[in-house]
Amino acid sequence: MSFETWWTELLPVGRSADSGGYFRLVYTHAELTCREWFRATATGIGLDVEIDGNGSLWAWWHSELAGPAVVLGSHLDSVRDGGAFDGPLGVVSSLAAVEALQRKGFQPTRPVAVVAFADEEGARFGIACAGSRLLTGELAPDRALALRDDNGVTMAEAATKAGLDTRTFGRDEDRLARIGSYVELHVEQGRGLIDMAAAVAVGSGIWPHGRYRFRFCGEANHAGTTLMSDRHDPMLGVARTALSVNELARRLNARGTLGRVLVTPNSTNGIPSEATGWVDVRAADTDTLEHVIDELAIRAALDAAELGVSLEFQEESVSPPVVFDEALAARVLDVLLQTRDTVPLLGTGAGHDAGILAHAGIPTAMLFVRNPTGISHSPQEFAETADAHAGVAALTEVLEALAS
Ligand code: HGY
Ligand code: MN
Ligand code: MN
Repeated sequence: MSFETWWTELLPVGRSADSGGYFRLVYTHAELTCREWFRATATGIGLDVEIDGNGSLWAWWHSELAGPAVVLGSHLDSVRDGGAFDGPLGVVSSLAAVEALQRKGFQPTRPVAVVAFADEEGARFGIACAGSRLLTGELAPDRALALRDDNGVTMAEAATKAGLDTRTFGRDEDRLARIGSYVELHVEQGRGLIDMAAAVAVGSGIWPHGRYRFRFCGEANHAGTTLMSDRHDPMLGVARTALSVNELARRLNARGTLGRVLVTPNSTNGIPSEATGWVDVRAADTDTLEHVIDELAIRAALDAAELGVSLEFQEESVSPPVVFDEALAARVLDVLLQTRDTVPLLGTGAGHDAGILAHAGIPTAMLFVRNPTGISHSPQEFAETADAHAGVAALTEVLEALAS
């Protein structure tokens, strides 16, 4: 099995020498290098590689066959200072599953594809699962292409520079019609499997979650000469919002994070002119999610009024809850339980392209591979080699069953 060879090839790409974390933001040099790796590796096992109209890569095995395709895959891009496994474990495992079937002489009766969705993390342009949302039409191309990164570069400019034709961005009916089912293997982003004697779980669903921008604008001034009573300090708005989202999430048993701040002009000796904080809220159900964000927006508006600063509140992306296709999940469980005693069912608070395809009516399933640290979106993210192999084995069995 080439899993280790491929994993070793990909491992150094975009990795920080300081933190050991990954910086594979979409259309940056590191992510483009990952794309080249994907193209070379998939071609190396005889797959036909193409890039779709929204920047996602598709490697086809027996695309000449009729019938709905079985699609495996995940993403290659990362969050800033992310882990090695979130995304790439699914892509490498999918290629390894195809190769394993090739080696045993298996002939699929329907087309098979391995996809690497573009910009799943939304780390550069702000909207999660941008590639799959564009494919399904959930994200409008003109909105996506106008998104700017922290340096003011638009997605259109970055994609064009990467050699894409942005005129093809948008819902891709033909491609959607070709997908019979999508199965995404992903490193577990949590501690569910650690305590169970199982290396692999089947996904049951994805929590609803949203990303929201809180932009406070105040009055830049001198840090030393401005009386405290004369200040209109937008940083306080961000600080209070960080505390509020934490308090609301604890109280309402949700997940609330303010993990990204952009301050202008970001000087040590100056009161900022503006300060923006991005909030990520997730909850087991939509009512709770909406309760948290509605309450948070009200508090932020009251804070802004009290501080004498303005507030611009913007919902950036919201993902409704996902319940994976029950028939497909049952089929996957049935296959895996042929040769395993236990295969847990796990829900997750992490978003995935599988959720976007599920929203578009495509039967999707997920497999999670044990992460002994339980940590993700961090260099600490990890999966033991034995568990990664267990994931490949499980995915291979599922692919063989679905492609027969
Ligand atoms: O944010 C998420 O849940 C995913 O990792 N994109
Ligand atoms: Mn992620
Ligand atoms: Mn991911």
